[in-house]
Amino acid sequence: MSTFDLIIKGGTIATASDVYTADIAIKDGKIVQIGTSLDGAEKVIDATGKYVLPGGIDSHVHISQPSGEGISMADDFETGTRSALFGGNTTVLPFCLQEKGTPLRQTLNAYHKLAEGNLYTDVSFHLIVSETNPTLLGQELPALAGEGYASFKVFMTYEGLRLNDAEILKTLDVARSTGSTVMIHCENEDAIRYLIEKHEAAGDVAPRAHASTRPAAVEREATHRALTLAEIADVPIVIVHVSNGQAMEEISRARARGLKVFGETCPQYLMLTAEDLDGMDWEGAKFVCSPPPRDKAAQEECWRGIETGVFDLFSSDHCPFKYDDERGKKFPKGKESFRHIPNGIPGVETRMPILFSEGVMKGRIDLSRFVALTSTNHAKTYGLYPQKGTISIGSDADIAIWDPSVKRTIRHAELHDGADYSPYEGIEVTGWPTTVILRGSVMVSDGELVGKKGDGQYQTARTRTPNSL
Ligand code: URP
Ligand code: ZN
Ligand code: ZN
Ligand code: ZN
Repeated sequence: MSTFDLIIKGGTIATASDVYTADIAIKDGKIVQIGTSLDGAEKVIDATGKYVLPGGIDSHVHISQPSGEGISMADDFETGTRSALFGGNTTVLPFCLQEKGTPLRQTLNAYHKLAEGNLYTDVSFHLIVSETNPTLLGQELPALAGEGYASFKVFMTYEGLRLNDAEILKTLDVARSTGSTVMIHCENEDAIRYLIEKHEAAGDVAPRAHASTRPAAVEREATHRALTLAEIADVPIVIVHVSNGQAMEEISRARARGLKVFGETCPQYLMLTAEDLDGMDWEGAKFVCSPPPRDKAAQEECWRGIETGVFDLFSSDHCPFKYDDERGKKFPKGKESFRHIPNGIPGVETRMPILFSEGVMKGRIDLSRFVALTSTNHAKTYGLYPQKGTISIGSDADIAIWDPSVKRTIRHAELHDGADYSPYEGIEVTGWPTTVILRGSVMVSDGELVGKKGDGQYQTARTRTPNSL
């Protein structure tokens, strides 16, 4: 009988702190030894010349979530996690959206049902709080936090979903007392409404108007307000999908005042601009997300945030809608306005290859920073560390083996999500995760799927110690 199930030999291992060459031995889904000249395994993978990294953790993805416009998302748990897996991820954190008037647990059970038996990666849910009532705040959220649902997202925008400042404060209060982590979507809804009405009155209804009605100022103001509310409630928060330097400045200033704040940015803010929304014949709808991509200067600001540590998290905000479906259903005669385009773009599979190629291969960040931004910090922020997010003895054997010599042009036809386009079509990248291992099981081997639907498992998260980090 072999001592180990699997040994990964001779690769360059990178964690958030170290880069070194060694072998990794795996038994019963866990990393049990790291050393040189290890042997005695049933299966050996030669990783010479490759990077051996912790599996990616994408802590911001939307799967099977109902949109406000009644359009279905293009990914269910099967296609969403399959796509994530091929992009080097072993864990994703989608959202369970609270349905108004329905007990949160009921909705959560429905999400679990959708996920069960369909996962290619491990999954852990965030809860979206869309209304605050005494039962939710006083009973449901505390009970769920105790069961391992330790993070929730609140929105300052989107009619029907947004919370006002008083509601956000009450929610932050629950986070403080339960040790949960709150993600905040920061855009000023009233200012956006004002701008939308002006644009529609002027007949300016093309997709590009989506970006014009959500300028950086609405994000900056809401970011400042969210940070102020967190300061008053005395609780750490995550500012999600930051798109530009003005919002980054608010984060830096809050940190200087002593706030515990985590910053997240996404590939769209490095690779796209508002001009992409200008595509002919509604093609611009393919790039509609909130906050919107901005300009080249903002892209450079976000890169600086990635390099200097303003950002802790690099997530996809994968939120896929089919372009063709969307056109058929959403733009019937008389309804052709940007405000009916569902917000969100796909990107769970391309998140890490884009940052690896543009960041690591172009010398903007080193491998350890890449690992921190795409895996380790997600596990730490959302209560999954060190089971997830690192390569160390006792951790889950969630590993992606990257071949830095692979050159690929991103083509949606070669991706594995359920959408019908990629906003990054045609972008050339160097480096790709060619082998992906989930809790010791090889799921993708040299680019081929060998794992099965259902191999992924649900993971509960740990809360923070209330009021501390
Ligand atoms: O446009 C976006 N980002 N859609 C996804 C939902 C959200 O706000 O994260
Ligand atoms: Zn959001
Ligand atoms: Zn999102
Ligand atoms: Zn509409």
